[in-house]
This record gives sequence, C-alpha cells and structure tokens, in this order.
Amino acid sequence: MPAPSIEELVSRVDRILPVPSAAMQVVRLLDLADSSVKDVANALSQDQGLTANVLKLANSAYYGMPRRISLPMEAIALLGFKTIRSIVWASVMEVLYSRPLVGYKLESGALWQHSLAAAAIAKYLGIKFRLRDPESLYVAGLLHDVGKLILNLYLPVEFGRLMALVEQGETFAEAEKEVLGYDHAEVGGAVCEKWQLPDVITQGVRYHHSPKEATNESAHIVHLANAIALTLGQGTLGAATLAASLDEEIVAKYVPTEEAWERLLDEAREQVILVLQVGKG
Ligand SMILES: [Fe+2]
Ligand SMILES: [Fe+2]
Repeated sequence: MPAPSIEELVSRVDRILPVPSAAMQVVRLLDLADSSVKDVANALSQDQGLTANVLKLANSAYYGMPRRISLPMEAIALLGFKTIRSIVWASVMEVLYSRPLVGYKLESGALWQHSLAAAAIAKYLGIKFRLRDPESLYVAGLLHDVGKLILNLYLPVEFGRLMALVEQGETFAEAEKEVLGYDHAEVGGAVCEKWQLPDVITQGVRYHHSPKEATNESAHIVHLANAIALTLGQGTLGAATLAASLDEEIVAKYVPTEEAWERLLDEAREQVILVLQVGKG
C-alpha cells in the first residue's frame, strides 16, 4: 500500500492535532493588526485552562515580569501581542507534544522539551542577529517538528523501514524522504498552512531541514536552533548524524568561526535552562 499523500494526512489534522477553538481564535486575533487588548482578553477568557496557563507562563522567570500578573488584560498589555501568541502556542503544543512518539523512539515529553529548547534558541538567535521578528521565530521553533506527530500516528508500517535507514546513519528527514517521498518538515509546513499561520512561521517549519530552499530567513534560524538544541542534548540524534545534517553554508553565514559556535552554544545553554524550568513548572 503506498504511503498517504501529504494532502491526505493534512486533511486529518483537525482530528489528530486538535487545537482548542478558543486558542485558535486567540492566535487569529493576535495576528490581525486591528484587534484590541479587550478582544483578545475576551476570546482568551472563553477557556479557563488556557487563561490559567497563559498567566502561569507570563509570571515565569523566562519572561521576567517585575510584578505578579493576575489578569489576562494585564498580561496582554504588558507582554504585547506577539509574546502572548508565543505563550498560547506553547500552552497548546505542550499538550500535543506530550504524547509518546513510539515510531521515533521518543519518550512522552521528549519532543516537547526539544521543541521548547529549539523555540527559545530560535528567539535568542533572532535577537542576537537583530532579525525583525524574534517571537515568530520562537513559534516556528516550537512547531518545527509538528509533522512528526502526524507521521508517527499514521505510518506504523513504514516506521520499520525508516528506523533501519536511521540505524544505518541517515537522519530522520532523509529516511522519511526515501520511504515516503516527503519528510516531517514538509508535513509540518502543510499543517501551518492549514492553520493559516504567517509565512515567517510556515517557512521556518517547512524548510528547517532544507534551509537554502526558503525565501525567509526564519528557516535558517530554525535549522540552526534545531541543531543547537540537539547538540545541547535536547533530542536523540547521534553526533555524527547531527554533523552530517547541518548545512555548512548556513553555519558559515551566521556563525563563521569555531569560537563563535562554542560561544553561541554557551549562550544557548543558558536560554534552554531558563525555558525548561518553565516547561517543568
Ligand atoms: Fe526536524
Ligand atoms: Fe527538531
């Protein structure tokens, strides 16, 4: 039986990756230029669990607010739309990513930690390299492996062949392409499109394993952030596989020397420690 097409997989997204309707409404409002703080607060308060989680994250050390925030309106006004959007996505993805991914041999919570680390690193790189929209890089980092959730669920038969290729030293993305004709990054890009996310996020997800195909720099940053997260131990790839999957031209463009790379790893490690405290909280 041939593997299902990306279109077939994505047509099942609402069932496989259910995003609570209040959360989807909030992120849509946050993406619109003419929404007010009140509109967003109203939409948010439709979902008490989401509201509580947003306030918890807003009050975490990662965001460093000078005083305790207890109302959604305050959180939105103080942190701004883009940051609240990051928090809402983190809240949604924590639930979706916390399933075990048997096919990828990932324990429950492992993909969440990897994604949270990649998100924090992508945002940090965005700030460090003075890019326009570090919060969108955070969301792209958070969502970059979302395609794995779908492939894991729908491809139990193909996973035997896939794992055999990975054990021979191929990356997951390479093995997926060989077995299925597409990889989890492409599937993730299609999910972002279905969710009508901005291009900066969709491209960051779709091209995180083929960054030179992207027209948006976000893919370069997510490519680096993913590799750095794996290097720092937030993932399960072996060192050799990791080195082979890093695009040298992209590395040379942003981190031209060995010393710069080492320094960046140290800085990224601090970001990861901070954000993983939030993830555990
Ligand atoms: Fe990936
Ligand atoms: Fe990844």
